[in-house]
Amino acid sequence: MKFRQILETDIPALLAIRSATRQNAIPPERLAAMGITTSSVRDMLQTTHHGWLCEDGGRVVGFAIGNGRTGEMWVIAILPDYEGRGIGGRLLRLVEDWLWHRGWRRIWLTTDTDTRLRAYGFYRQQGWIDDGVRKNLRHLIKFAPRPTGPGDKEPPAGDSAAQAPPRGPAD
Ligand SMILES: CC(C)(COP(=O)(O)OP(=O)(O)OC[C@H]1O[C@@H](n2cnc3c(N)ncnc32)[C@H](O)[C@@H]1OP(=O)(O)O)[C@@H](O)C(=O)NCCC(=O)NCCS
Repeated sequence: MKFRQILETDIPALLAIRSATRQNAIPPERLAAMGITTSSVRDMLQTTHHGWLCEDGGRVVGFAIGNGRTGEMWVIAILPDYEGRGIGGRLLRLVEDWLWHRGWRRIWLTTDTDTRLRAYGFYRQQGWIDDGVRKNLRHLIKFAPRPTGPGDKEPPAGDSAAQAPPRGPAD
């Protein structure tokens, strides 16, 4: 199992995974209706977004992407056969660490309102806090870990770092 940064050439595989998850799957036509296409994701990765994937023998089996401009953990998806092996946790941590290094002290995501879905327990287990339901989406937030010693410096705060997050896509 290999973890690496997402390249533009990976985007078709990522969209396929987003449509093929066991829960919360988003069919290709709905992704397109949401404006999520190869070309829009390419634009995002060239500007505001950054992400990592996991591959098994050259096949992409999971990925996660964050939005550095808004502090949103934008998407995470793991293929059904690869759930429960620690891949989602590791990918989530890579995105979280990137957002902390971008200067965010509070990051956020939206997910399905149904707390019985695996994603909800997963996020809660990873330290995310339930911030309630708005516009039929459940919002979760997470605060940056506190510096642990005198040698630790606060990451550089971007001008947007202290602002409340804007609302984002359903993922
Ligand atoms: C949610 C998802 C990303 C989790 O990925 P995963 O690879 O199965 O998660 P992991 O195996 O890395 O789990 C990490 C930890 O969370 C725990 N965990 C996972 N789901 C949990 C749950 N529902 N309740 C409690 N703990 C949970 C695991 O036990 C593990 O704990 P550990 O580190 O102590 O062993 C994956 O199930 C998925 O892609 N779901 C479909 C798409 C989706 O819903 N995406 C989010 C949309 S907002």
